[in-house]
Amino acid sequence: MAKIRKAVIPAAGLGTRFLPATKAVPKELLPIVDTPSIQYIVQEVVDADIHTVILISGRGKSSIVDHFDVSPELEEKLLREGKHELAERLRSARSMATIVSVRQGEPRGLGHAVLRAKDLVGNEPFVVLLGDDLVDADIPCTKQMADVYEKYGKSVCAVMEVPDEDVSRFGIISGEKIDADCVEIDQMVEKPALSEAPSNLAIVGRYILTPRIFELLEKTDPGKGGEIQLTDAMALLMKEEGFIGYKFKGDRYDAGDQFGYLQANIAYGLKRKNLAPRLLEYMKEMIKKHS
Ligand code: UTP
Repeated sequence: MAKIRKAVIPAAGLGTRFLPATKAVPKELLPIVDTPSIQYIVQEVVDADIHTVILISGRGKSSIVDHFDVSPELEEKLLREGKHELAERLRSARSMATIVSVRQGEPRGLGHAVLRAKDLVGNEPFVVLLGDDLVDADIPCTKQMADVYEKYGKSVCAVMEVPDEDVSRFGIISGEKIDADCVEIDQMVEKPALSEAPSNLAIVGRYILTPRIFELLEKTDPGKGGEIQLTDAMALLMKEEGFIGYKFKGDRYDAGDQFGYLQANIAYGLKRKNLAPRLLEYMKEMIKKHS
């Protein structure tokens, strides 16, 4: 079975839920504590032993590529000032992976964004990670999914149970359980009304796809919201080749959503030894004050 060697990170969306912050700053660069969300995502890819990242960028998004570029003056200054740890953190961010970028032009939907990577991916399976979807896990979510891909030889998407009120915000799947964490998917619907949802299992921002997806995306007409939906092409791929839904292990944060962003900052802040005690103390005070 072909090894997953390339990751596609779509980051060309407009980020309207984060205006005005995202007028001039890409939402993928908004910090979770002190690190942009996209850096955690590239780290996950590298931890899964994937070293080529294809970034789908758009207008006003070139600072994402700059973030992973060299900054010799800054690194030298930090070293001169004895700030070795910080200099090393900058160095490791830029040498994480080979990052190539391709522009989407108009943001015509996630499916349209993924299709931009066709020539760079070529004829091999690849992983897609959304630029604002964080998964904090002992084993990187991408690695967990690559193992599922190797086991079943089919495309895989990460899924999780969501409450009824959130169903219409996600792509929803249903299927037959084939092992403790996997279902063989038989239905995929993009953002269904609760009454039309086949289950509460939502697709989150991680996909391993076979290259056939590109041909299917080329044939996919605009769907929900007038956008070319990845879920619509995935539903066709499911019919042709089969598709696995994988209940990943880990905590997922939608950093492109205001509440998810705050949650991620608290959760990642609590993982920092220098911040955790003060942050907890502050949260206790806030609970007292607001209850
Ligand atoms: P979102 O649904 O979060 O859309 O896209 P968005 O436009 O970025 O944000 P809002 O809803 O206006 O606040 C999920 C992921 O797909 C990328 C986004 O950058 C994000 O990482 N995307 C979406 C594209 O790359 N291109 C698109 O046309 C749409």
